[in-house]
Amino acid sequence: MMLSLKNIVKYFHRGSVNEVLALQNVCLDVRRGDFICIIGSNGAGKSTLLNGLAGCFFPDQGTIVLDERDITGWPEYKRAKFIGRVFQDPLLGTCATMSIEQNLALALRRGRFRGLSAGVRRLDRDLFREKLRMLDLGLEDRFQDAVGLLSGGQRQALTMVMATLVRPDILLLDEHTAALDPKTGRQILDLTERLVEGMELTTLMVTHNMHQALRMGNRLIMMHRGEIILDITGEEKSRLQVDDLLARFYSLKQDAFASDKMLLV
Ligand SMILES: Nc1ncnc2c1ncn2[C@@H]1O[C@H](COP(=O)(O)OP(=O)(O)O)[C@@H](O)[C@H]1O
Ligand SMILES: [Mg+2]
Repeated sequence: MMLSLKNIVKYFHRGSVNEVLALQNVCLDVRRGDFICIIGSNGAGKSTLLNGLAGCFFPDQGTIVLDERDITGWPEYKRAKFIGRVFQDPLLGTCATMSIEQNLALALRRGRFRGLSAGVRRLDRDLFREKLRMLDLGLEDRFQDAVGLLSGGQRQALTMVMATLVRPDILLLDEHTAALDPKTGRQILDLTERLVEGMELTTLMVTHNMHQALRMGNRLIMMHRGEIILDITGEEKSRLQVDDLLARFYSLKQDAFASDKMLLV
């Protein structure tokens, strides 16, 4: 197994009246090349799962093993060398006051140690141009433009390129199209598929859209109140419809509120 989460427990505000058990004993084995879509109602623990993987906090219990290394106690900056991330907010992945080229140069430095003074080399520039051309947004002709001048969709596309510029062992996408208009969102999803398939990236993608989750990836996980309650792969996943998914959800969780359904669709 490439990545194993074993019995991960995460509390927020433990011991106070606001205590939340955000992850309860989560176990997840990820194979190399898995493209996993994660769905679940609001507050199910989807973002907490991704944040825990990225090292934003340490779990209260459990272990995380990546390629036979126990990384449970590794800080975020150390994991950032092999994890690419894209968040919901297009403003989070890029630096507005820096140019497109400078942003890409920073992304290229991830995992490579070079002096901060190292300028952008010609070969790097060729690589940037090739990657930006793939977006078909004309950004390859705007290297010196500040990223703050770009639209949300353009910024999210750039963030996707930056997250995958140095091939990450794991790509984490947290509702990365939710803040975009539907057309731009579809373009970013299309780009996501091209990048993930082209580079054979092991990917965990959170989405609130069940149709997307059924259509994309080879595996689907549903979370509910801090637990993984469904894990469907391959053939079974490709046959599944939204109605089946809802039926499975209700058969597992009779106590679910009607509002959970609305939040899932
Ligand atoms: N930094 C935090 N501090 C306190 N509570 C948090 C924090 N992050 C998440 N939570 C709580 O943990 C639970 C899971 O949240 P989250 O993982 O963001 O859910 P999802 O992404 O599935 O909507 C929620 O009850 C949320 O309020
Ligand atoms: Mg979330």
